[in-house]
Amino acid sequence: MTSSFQAPIGTHDVLAPQSALWEGLVATFAEFAFRFGFTLILTPMFEEIGVFNRGIGEDSEVATKEMYVFQDRGERTYALRPEGTASVVRAFVQHQPTVPYKAWYVTPAFRYERPQAGRYRQHHQLGVEAIGTDDPAMDVEVIALAWRFYQALGLRRVRLLVNSMGHSECRGRYVDVLRGHLDEHRDQLCEEHQATWSHNPLRVLDCKRAPCVAVIADGPLLPDFLCAECSTHFSAVRKGLSDLGIDADVEPRLVRGFDYYTRTTFEFVADALGNAQNAIGGGGRYDSLTEQLGGKRAGGIGFGSGIERLLLAREAEGLTTNLINRTSDLFVVDTTGQDVATVIVDDLRRSGYAVERSFDARSMKSQMKLADRSGATLALLIGPQELEAGQVTIRDLRSDDFAAAQQSVAREDLLPALRERLNK
Ligand code: HAM
Repeated sequence: MTSSFQAPIGTHDVLAPQSALWEGLVATFAEFAFRFGFTLILTPMFEEIGVFNRGIGEDSEVATKEMYVFQDRGERTYALRPEGTASVVRAFVQHQPTVPYKAWYVTPAFRYERPQAGRYRQHHQLGVEAIGTDDPAMDVEVIALAWRFYQALGLRRVRLLVNSMGHSECRGRYVDVLRGHLDEHRDQLCEEHQATWSHNPLRVLDCKRAPCVAVIADGPLLPDFLCAECSTHFSAVRKGLSDLGIDADVEPRLVRGFDYYTRTTFEFVADALGNAQNAIGGGGRYDSLTEQLGGKRAGGIGFGSGIERLLLAREAEGLTTNLINRTSDLFVVDTTGQDVATVIVDDLRRSGYAVERSFDARSMKSQMKLADRSGATLALLIGPQELEAGQVTIRDLRSDDFAAAQQSVAREDLLPALRERLNK
């Protein structure tokens, strides 16, 4: 007996009709990215491990514990991409496109995490990166793109949280004071962070466990440590968002899971998803990343948004309609031996219609069942009588009134008749 294989733990297959929802999301995102002046980028699914784990004391959990790492036959060490940003920045440094370089992507991302609802080992992100400017107007543009996209998806219960990490000196000063605070309360931290707080104090801010939350509640806040320049930058970002009517809540404890962030960080939370895995998108600035990857300094900012979570958030808000139409216009039912169907289907498809048909010379009844199940608007019926008379019968598959739903037309009048019935 052959064994039956399953998709690996934490991964999933996406088949129709669910996959049509994915198509709708990607097509809508591509349209918004185009409107905002971003061009598509494709980069390899795996990179030298140093692209993600830059050997500068990278402390993010993604880059240390969660990566899928492997050696190829040439004994090079690679990692499957855990996120999109580092690959895009690596490509920017390698190709030096004119700046600001604005790119969008859709990509799987691989993280060895504990799978649960909304958390996968292979998830998929839609994202953008804008590299080569420090202008706060670019921060506003990137955040606005995400916001307008979520609005177009129909999502209404999304909150935007923003913070600023400052540049490395501001953050250094903050981390020193935070470390002092955590040291004072070290015995009150959760078990995990009692062991790790001194190594990376910022991760404690991310901890959702009650003991850490309590310690952090009266701890120092990042925005209080910003230098004048970083503070001005942060104010400009908030003003720009407010000018666009985009509400942003300053969340002074927001730190994100990657160590490359400088200045602006942000996250989009879908309240319809409850408390767990409710981040549908997040991003921020990374003004030192090009240098860490061997290039000249170039400020950058971007975000990534999880496709699975966006679909869960839409479902939780009761949004069931697809963003693009993926139902066929017509189903051709041919009981004369199928050759007619082959020609008519091709004619109709060349005329721009989405057309399905059946195969394997099925009975009329069986073909009609398939036609109904296909969701197509109309059926075209061709039996021996129609063939003889040079006609086809058009039937409205959505009408219960059998007589009104049927219309016979000469083959040569088919296209005008369809134009009228389908309005296209
Ligand atoms: P991230 O916050 O790690 O940021 O991921 C972005 C989004 O991907 C999250 O908000 C979430 O919607 C989704 N996501 C992340 N991990 C999972 C998972 N295991 N399962 C399902 N969905 C997930 C980044 O990846 C950065 N590269 C974003 C960025 C772009 N920063 C600057 N530019």
